[in-house]
Amino acid sequence: MKKLIAGNWKMNGSLAANEKLIKEILAGLGQAACQIAVGVPSVYLAQCQGLLAGSAVDLGSQDISAHEGGAYTGEIAGAMLKEFGVRYAIVGHSERRQYHGETDEVVATKAQRALGCGITPIVCVGETLAEREAGRTEEVVKRQLAAVIHTNGHCISEIVVAYEPVWAIGTGKTASPEQAQQVHAVLRAQLKAASAHADRIQLLYGGSMNAANAASLLAQPDIDGGLIGGAALKAQDFLTIIA
Ligand code: 13P
Repeated sequence: MKKLIAGNWKMNGSLAANEKLIKEILAGLGQAACQIAVGVPSVYLAQCQGLLAGSAVDLGSQDISAHEGGAYTGEIAGAMLKEFGVRYAIVGHSERRQYHGETDEVVATKAQRALGCGITPIVCVGETLAEREAGRTEEVVKRQLAAVIHTNGHCISEIVVAYEPVWAIGTGKTASPEQAQQVHAVLRAQLKAASAHADRIQLLYGGSMNAANAASLLAQPDIDGGLIGGAALKAQDFLTIIA
């Protein structure tokens, strides 16, 4: 299976910074052996679609509405994202769960909306530090993934899953390769029980992945890529992870 290296720019960037970053990434890319994507703020989708046209880097959004359309002020529908060439939608990022009250059910519906529009949802799961310290890591990630499996049935083989321990996001504290692999194996087993095609589901690790630690994380048998925050904003770091 090909690996997927996806950047999550979060609420960073500007017209000028995006152009510089994408041009530097494309200039340094060469023949990449993996799939590559960048998840950009929605207002910049059109700009980034133009900059990425014809390149090996796919476009992603950081969210998608759980609704198809209509009176939902501020929301962006999957069909709209699709018009701007969006291939991936990050769904259920811990920052959306934490700051926007997204429940497991909302996240599952968002994944369903994405699949319905031909967009691959990158479904994020992960435990907080308190949950890890209470020995509840498995229970939490399995509950989060179970909701997505329940809502999406056999379509589950079309999703991407990102394991992002909340305590590792933006903290510089990475899960060790062994810690990450342990959770990835749990998620893989859960997906296998739900789908005969679970082997082709890419399981990404996210949380302070950087140019220095990416290789050892990506060498784990069930880690099929990375979802990268801070290091995706620096062309050289992102290129090193891709390489
Ligand atoms: P950092 O790589 O900045 O820790 O962010 C990870 C993340 O949340 C990606 O979605």
